Amino acid sequence: MRQNPNHRLAGQTCIVTGANSGIGKEIALSMGRDCANVIVNYVTDPASAEEVAHQIELSDSVAKAIAVKADVSKEDEVKNMFKIAKQHFGTVDILVNNAGMQRDAPFHEMTLEQWQKVIDVNLTGQFLCSREAVREFLSRGKSPYSCALGKIVCLSSVHETIPWAGHVNYATSKGGVMLLMKSMAQELGPKGIRVNSISPGAIKTPINRDAWETPEALNDLMKLIPYKRIGQTADIGAVAVWLVTDEADYIHGASIYVDGGMTLYPGFTTNG
Ligand code: BGC
Repeated sequence: MRQNPNHRLAGQTCIVTGANSGIGKEIALSMGRDCANVIVNYVTDPASAEEVAHQIELSDSVAKAIAVKADVSKEDEVKNMFKIAKQHFGTVDILVNNAGMQRDAPFHEMTLEQWQKVIDVNLTGQFLCSREAVREFLSRGKSPYSCALGKIVCLSSVHETIPWAGHVNYATSKGGVMLLMKSMAQELGPKGIRVNSISPGAIKTPINRDAWETPEALNDLMKLIPYKRIGQTADIGAVAVWLVTDEADYIHGASIYVDGGMTLYPGFTTNG
């Protein structure tokens, strides 16, 4: 049965981690526009998370949204977030593991704290949230709203494959996300749980302000992007929603690069 665009996620509930800014915010709003109920997860700045939830409820869709604070790297906080989601909406159908951060430093100057924080949030956070989601999918059983028992989208990065000097903690975390996602997909596919990644390139958000805020920086960035534009959060929101609809039901264990071609080794266009 073909679903009505903009109502493709009606009846389903989605947790988006790190949903109060940047890519996570756009994904949360996009899920809401397609009628999913949304848990807008955040760890700092409650007002911005409340605002995202408010915007979802104001839109024409029937979606409901609540802001829920949880540090994704803390097991008890993750469990509590899922408990609140179930209390409000009965179950969880979709998890978007978006929360992530950078703590950049030259390798020889990187502190253990900078290393550990990024691994904890970007990688362990995705493990903890996914494990809780899978437990819920399995205990809930089949829902009438989707072919899959449940869906997980991991936000990875082009740096799951492109090495990144000065960012070894971040690139390592995303390399880990790639095999976390693929191993989960291999293990959970037989149970009807669909697991994929979106791997953004340079998307214009606060996390990479240095890369776009001056004309010189933007000019340098364009040398890395064959399609010659910086990405917008809407580029990711649209893919994230589509990926959890039944239109994408046969996509499983895939990492979808949304990067304007950044992974095409553009340095080889005129060299090599
Ligand atoms: C990083 C951005 C960076 C982009 C491309 C992303 O994963 O978070 O800071 O601009 O990769 O290098």
